[in-house]
Amino acid sequence: MELEKRTELMRAVRDEVFNLTESPLYEYRVSNGYHAVLGQGRHDADIMFIGEAPGKNEAQQGIPFCGSSGRVLDELLESIGLDRDTVYITNIVKDRPPDNRDPTKAEIELYAPFLERQIDIIQPRVIATLGRFSMEFILKKYDSPQQNSKISRVHGQLLEAHAPYGEIYVLPLFHPAVALYRPDQKQTLFEDFEVLKQFIA
Ligand code: URA
Repeated sequence: MELEKRTELMRAVRDEVFNLTESPLYEYRVSNGYHAVLGQGRHDADIMFIGEAPGKNEAQQGIPFCGSSGRVLDELLESIGLDRDTVYITNIVKDRPPDNRDPTKAEIELYAPFLERQIDIIQPRVIATLGRFSMEFILKKYDSPQQNSKISRVHGQLLEAHAPYGEIYVLPLFHPAVALYRPDQKQTLFEDFEVLKQFIA
């Protein structure tokens, strides 16, 4: 698919997410002057990162991973020489849940179709999930044999998945936020990120 076409399709997703008045998080967005966070990066990226939901900084700026977790993500990207502009970064839930609470099942279900459209537009060769929520969603979506595995067992493993546009990989990764309070897991994140090197064009 031409890049222009992808961008046009992504704009349609953006407009729908921005106007998602039926979301239980919509009022919270508006009353705090927050933005929905669609995603950032190339619409034809080989590598797509999927986090959980925007935090406060992200909702204020409308940009994914631009707060403290984002600084960890930037360090990780830099460690393997991966330029943030060459990948696509998004979340399952596009609006900030209050008080950084976990997204609910209903919120994930409401926003998931937008994420699925973004995957279909970008058609990444590898989907790197950041944290448990996106891992569970993506492994279930592709009916992976590892869909019931704990993140502590499958992190850093390249799992094969069958997408409608071809064979792809899913790489479950810990959420960068864990690095902020667990230095040992930060080391693990750096090691797991090495797996992505083979997908750098
Ligand atoms: N945590 C996430 O999961 N996503 C962001 O965009 C920021 C923090």
